[in-house]
Amino acid sequence: MSTRSHPRLPSWDQAPERRKGRGSSFVVGLIGYPLRHSVSPAFQQAAFDFHHLPITYQAWETPREQLDAVPRRVREPDCLGINVTIPYKQVVLSWLDAVDGLAEKIGAVNTIVNERGKLRGFNTDAEGFLRGLREEGSFEPAEKRVVVLGAGGAARAVVFALASAEAAAVSVFNRTPDRAEALVAAVRERMPGVRIAALPWDERLLGQRLGECDLLVNTTPVGMSAAGSGMGAAGSGMSAAGSGMAAAGSGMAAAGSGMAAAGSGIGHGYKDESPLPERLVPSEAFVYDLVYNPAETRLLRLARAKGARTLGGLPMLIHQGAAAFELWTGRPAPRGLMLQRAEEALLR
Ligand SMILES: NC(=O)c1ccc[n+]([C@@H]2O[C@H](COP(=O)([O-])OP(=O)(O)OC[C@H]3O[C@@H](n4cnc5c(N)ncnc54)[C@H](OP(=O)(O)O)[C@@H]3O)[C@@H](O)[C@H]2O)c1
Repeated sequence: MSTRSHPRLPSWDQAPERRKGRGSSFVVGLIGYPLRHSVSPAFQQAAFDFHHLPITYQAWETPREQLDAVPRRVREPDCLGINVTIPYKQVVLSWLDAVDGLAEKIGAVNTIVNERGKLRGFNTDAEGFLRGLREEGSFEPAEKRVVVLGAGGAARAVVFALASAEAAAVSVFNRTPDRAEALVAAVRERMPGVRIAALPWDERLLGQRLGECDLLVNTTPVGMSAAGSGMGAAGSGMSAAGSGMAAAGSGMAAAGSGMAAAGSGIGHGYKDESPLPERLVPSEAFVYDLVYNPAETRLLRLARAKGARTLGGLPMLIHQGAAAFELWTGRPAPRGLMLQRAEEALLR
């Protein structure tokens, strides 16, 4: 996705007096529900401050009954746009005057830019996913066989990103088979020619596909700590300078089997659970877990113990946020600083 200057922003450099005062002239919002544990405000505000931009990033926790008032607020002249998170990434499509090509294919938007009262939607999750994989993981998905666990909102962005990156074949396993089938049908309709299959969560089939895949992506929340429990983010696989790669095969011991009980609630967290039993965790494939809290999930620990290369979800989080920042401001995002602030916020 290209970086675009916001229509009102060319004046930043011509109006240095704006950069001095503490009063903010502009606002960027974040909508979702619940929001209290989001780390986006910490790292986005740091990026605005780094460039001395008079912009405040505000978390607008929005219960469903208050959603209708949001598009009017976003169109106001002082609002540069918003980030959108769970559960509104699809609902907001109906507010938009224009949608970026990839966001339209994915059918979900996580970033909206206010272009003089017209709202344009983007999906930076897909870009964040690929950039994390390529830059911090040093893994190129083109021509690779991929297994994706889960078929929810994150999986949508992942699967379309993999298709656009020309992965050789994608196998989507989900606990609820209908959801995986609907996702695969959407990809086939919008990107004909992509080799993609929906598969039921069957251990024999999982074992077969995992035995021959190059890349495993976990998009389920299994492994995530309870929201806001503040696990550390050390070893995220992305250095503060924006380089670095996940530690590979350090031989750390893995204890127990710890497969998640299907149906346990997201609100309770799944910390120290793995979406796969230990014997199914691949040793040859690259293992990418979208969960970013804790930095090293049980799945990654098991994979690393078997010698697999691994990557956690924090680089993706930073890259999707950085892409959104660049869309609102037209400025290069200070990714290392954003990572540092996200890590600090996760430790709180
Ligand atoms: N790193 C990043 O930047 C980033 C970005 C987006 C999301 N994420 C992470 O990705 C995860 C998923 O987010 P989402 O928005 O896709 O959520 P979602 O829309 O609720 O989808 C969750 C998916 O996980 C499956 N699932 C849930 N609990 C399960 C269990 N116990 N066993 C097996 N499968 C289970 C669901 O299966 P059913 O269909 O059967 O319910 C569904 O396919 C979260 O941990 C989120 O933090 C990270």
